[in-house]
This record gives sequence, C-alpha cells and structure tokens, in this order.
Amino acid sequence: MNSLNLTRRGLLGVATGIAITGLDIVSIARSKEKEPDALGKELIFRTTEPRNGEPSLSQLVQSWITPVKHFYVRSHAPNPVINADNYVLTVEGRVRTPLKLSLAQLRQLTRHKVTATLTCAGNRRTEFNREEKVGGVQWEAGAIGNAEWSGFALSDVLRKAEVLESAKHVWFEGLDEIQRSDVVIPFGGSIPIEKAMSDEKQPGALLVDQMNQQPLTADHGYPLRTVVPGYIGARSVKWLGKIVVSEMPSPNHYLANAYKIVKNNSPIDLAESGPIYRYPINGAIATPEAKTTVPAGQLDISGYVLPSGRPDTAIQRIQISTDNGNSWQSAKTFGQQSEYCWQLWKARVQVSAQTRAIILRAFDTSGGFMPGRVPWNAKGYLQNSWYRLPIQVQ
Ligand code: MTE
Repeated sequence: MNSLNLTRRGLLGVATGIAITGLDIVSIARSKEKEPDALGKELIFRTTEPRNGEPSLSQLVQSWITPVKHFYVRSHAPNPVINADNYVLTVEGRVRTPLKLSLAQLRQLTRHKVTATLTCAGNRRTEFNREEKVGGVQWEAGAIGNAEWSGFALSDVLRKAEVLESAKHVWFEGLDEIQRSDVVIPFGGSIPIEKAMSDEKQPGALLVDQMNQQPLTADHGYPLRTVVPGYIGARSVKWLGKIVVSEMPSPNHYLANAYKIVKNNSPIDLAESGPIYRYPINGAIATPEAKTTVPAGQLDISGYVLPSGRPDTAIQRIQISTDNGNSWQSAKTFGQQSEYCWQLWKARVQVSAQTRAIILRAFDTSGGFMPGRVPWNAKGYLQNSWYRLPIQVQ
C-alpha cells in the first residue's frame, strides 16, 4: 500500500472516529513533507508568502553548479506575472538617448555567459541569534548558489543609451509590488557607474534571461534580471523593469535603508552606514549535518567557501579545527575554481569523545579572512565568522 492510500485511510479514520495507527501518522507526516512545490523547488521554505527558501546543506554541495531546484529563493513579494511578449525594459535618467527595449531588441546585443555565485547578505543570519535575536528571514547557511547566467552586458545597454558625464550610479527597479506599511514599492537598488561600465574580462553587471541554460523561472526574475558578480544578492534585481542612470545612489528603500550594517534602526545609525555592495569571504561546513552523532575516528566532511567579491580573488587556504581553534589542518578543494564563484572543499578529520564542534575558517588572495567573531548587527547581515558545526562523538 502506498503512503497516499495510508494517508487517505488515516484521514478517513479522523473523519469516522476510527483509531489511527502510529504507522498512519508517520505516513501522513511523510506525505506532507514530500508534497511537491508548485514551482518545482526542493527547498526548506522559511516563508511561503513571499517565497523564501534554501536547500539542505547536503543537497547544496552536491555540485559546483547549483541546479535551479536547489537554488535559494529570496523574494520580498509574490512573483509578478509578466507577459514576455509585451515586456519592455526602460532606460532613462542621465543618458543622451533614453531607451525602451523589448526582449527581441535586447537579444540583438552580444550574448555573454558568466558563472557566478549569488548569496544573500542574510546568509547564516540565524547564528546571530546565539547572541541576541535578529529579525528577517531565518537563513541558515544555504542562502547561496552558483549558476551559469546568460544575457547581456549592462555596459552595452548603457553605451547604447549614451551615458552622460555626470552619471555616478545605475539604479535598477523590479516589477514586483512590495507592501510596506501603507505603501507599495518595487524592489530596487543601485550600483556605482564604474562597476556598471566595467567589462575587462567579463561584464561587471549583466542583464540575464537564462540561468543554467534555461529561461529564468518566475522565482528567479523571469523574463529579465540583473546579476552583479561579487555583490550581495540584493543588488541583482529580479523582474527588472527600469534602469535609471543618476548622479545619486538609488533612493529605493532596499538601497537607502535596508542592507546596511547597523547596531539598531535609528536614523543616525542608518545615515552613518553606507549600503553594502561587495560581499566578504564566507563559508560553511555542509556535511555531515549539524548535531549528528558519529563514531570516534576519521570523519569525512565537506562544504563551500566563497572568496570576497573582489576582482581576481581566489581562495588561498581553507582550514579545519576539531579542538576549538587550537590547531588547524588544511581542507582539499575540488570542483572548479573561477572568479566570483564559490569553491567546494572536503577534508578527513579525526574526532574523539572530546570533540564538540568542527570549525571552518578560510583566507583569500585579497587578504580576506573569516574572523573568529563578527559584531552583532540588527539586520543580521554578513555573518562570516568561523563556521562551527556542533557534533556528538560516541
Ligand atoms: N529583486 C526583486 N525584484 N525583488 C526581490 O525581492 N530580492 C533580492 C534580489 N533581487 C529581490 C530581488 C535578494 S535580497 C536576493 S538575495 C536575490 O534577489 C535572491 O535571488 P534569487 O531569489 O534568484 O536567489
């Protein structure tokens, strides 16, 4: 008998007052757990309205390219429904030639493919709760993914629009509708013009219509989004509707106030702290699962490390400690290595009954390192301290 039948029988039992067996209850729980997501995601949803989910860490590190089904989703509002046939991207502001571009017009530009890791500034947020509770989506270490993005260089679009000398920032505005107290706003943000126009080895920012060789899905910004390699995920605006070239950074809430490191949300703290652009080095131990019980002896562990989002930066050293940071051994990297991409790693460590936790730290070629501790901040961003995996050794 399959679990669906058992579930039906269980439910029937409730309706008719017949006792449900323990087996039935397990089946009901399992069938609920396995209920497929309507949009095909296999994630642990932290909220479903809007959709915010991350994969289990063991699924996350199964491959260097993260399959779309295991790629985290971070959205502030429901996915907007956009008809690609009528879709128009507006480019305006400090430009000589304002543009309205259909997808067909965009597709006449040179296509670029870039593999880059996207990560939420709130990745590992729950670790701040050990000190004091932080609000926001309660992310563990899965708000990160590595994908092949395909689309067009933002610099090509801006050259077409003929950016004026006074231009300093490029704003992005999404087509989503976010309810904030009594106003509805789109998600937005901006990046410095230097990043927008840079195209030395690869575009500094892309307007992409494909992810892992498939059209973007609704969760990831269909039909067009920005991808800004090296910057926190918030700068990669989904469902892109408008680009504004300006002398000022974007006034949108998600650049002007959110995504800042502040001790509290006072006007002074917010005014004194700038928007986060680049992400710092970060990493996590993905297997085994936290709090697993393992026998004493050798233990295989694996995880990811992302170098800081600076050009030409790679991971230099990945180190593991099983004695609370007194001694360290090196982990081995595997999979590919590429600019603005995470690095997967594995290690075989020795654990004993005294081992309480396994600790990860890493260093990159730009001088970036995961510190022993980072100061608590009210919005719970950029948690990149040594990653501690609690385990029990028998
Ligand atoms: N763009 C729009 N329009 N709306 C959003 O809510 N979330 C941002 C960014 N772009 C967001 C957005 C944040 S905070 C992150 S981390 C990334 O999208 C997540 O991208 P993903 O959902 O494709 O993983």
